Amino acid sequence: MGNSYRIAVIPGDGTGPEVVREGQKVLSAASKMFGFQLEPMVFDFGGDRYLKTGKTIEDSDIEQLKEYHAIYLGAIGHPDVKPGILETGILLKLRFSLDQYINLRPVKLYNPAFCPLKDKTAADIDFVVVRENSEGLYKGMGEFQNKGTQDEVAIQISHNTRKGVERCIRYAFQYCRNRNKKKKLTLCGKTNVLTYAWDLWERTFNEVAKEYSDITTDYAHVDATTMWFVKNPEWFDVIVTDNMFGDIITDLGAMVQGGMGIAAGGNINPQGVSMFEPIGGSAPKYTNKNVINPLAAICAGAMMLETLGEVNAAQAIENSVIKVVNEKIKSLGAGRMGYSTAQVGDLVVEDL
Ligand code: IPM
Ligand code: MN
Repeated sequence: MGNSYRIAVIPGDGTGPEVVREGQKVLSAASKMFGFQLEPMVFDFGGDRYLKTGKTIEDSDIEQLKEYHAIYLGAIGHPDVKPGILETGILLKLRFSLDQYINLRPVKLYNPAFCPLKDKTAADIDFVVVRENSEGLYKGMGEFQNKGTQDEVAIQISHNTRKGVERCIRYAFQYCRNRNKKKKLTLCGKTNVLTYAWDLWERTFNEVAKEYSDITTDYAHVDATTMWFVKNPEWFDVIVTDNMFGDIITDLGAMVQGGMGIAAGGNINPQGVSMFEPIGGSAPKYTNKNVINPLAAICAGAMMLETLGEVNAAQAIENSVIKVVNEKIKSLGAGRMGYSTAQVGDLVVEDL
């Protein structure tokens, strides 16, 4: 008998439950094929629970979640809850309290027909963004001065620690080495303007680089990075950047790979509990219509298996997704796939 993994499943809001259902369908099929067990336990954190109880995620919930091998998340965000409450109270609280200091976001084009860029092939768009996930502007540090007056000042601090920056950069170098493709790591920053934060990042990057002589290093300002994503995405292999820039460039990355319907990410604590999610939101207007694309959630499930060590199962799921994306569905967009949410899940399982 193979290994057994306890998985905390948080379907969350909007289309989250629909895509997580398809993801679990695929994960369960893969576990039977590859001889390991998944023991899912569902948690109802999200907007509906918040509206009923006033609770987001408590410290005691976090302690419970630490008992699992991984977390599989659908989406967080509810039209009746003021923006910010669920995002900070649930999503960021999970990332921060579980010290998931890496946000790993692969950008991979599976079918050139779905790429908005002219003349780009699948080989041209295959890179990974390593986003720092615990510091920077997301730390929530700052203040108002003279709030509500004409002299108001709002300060939002980007907080970067040497330890936080170094562990992220180190992870990126190691990831780049293990990935073993172009073996090129690009630091994406803004050294020409943000002279404190990016000085620390650049110095740390150059120091750690000395331990990785097999990796070619490069640097690009964040604004230029968005330009290269569109013009020359084939230049990239692995990109490392801070929390805010990583947030922004990975939405662009998702579009370049065909859309939110296929973009998956992992919030990684290499020594602890990691959490995997489709990077798109809760998509309220598509909720319960059976039209949302579940492939991002399915790919997030594959990333989870890879991190748990079930690499063959993860690869098999990815291969099936590639087939479905090339041979079956007509579009990656919600309602335009030519199949329902549940049918797309079935297609992946059939191919497996
Ligand atoms: C993401 C999201 C989150 C972020 C929001 C919902 C807090 O945009 O996962 O990229 O900014 O990190
Ligand atoms: Mn985002």
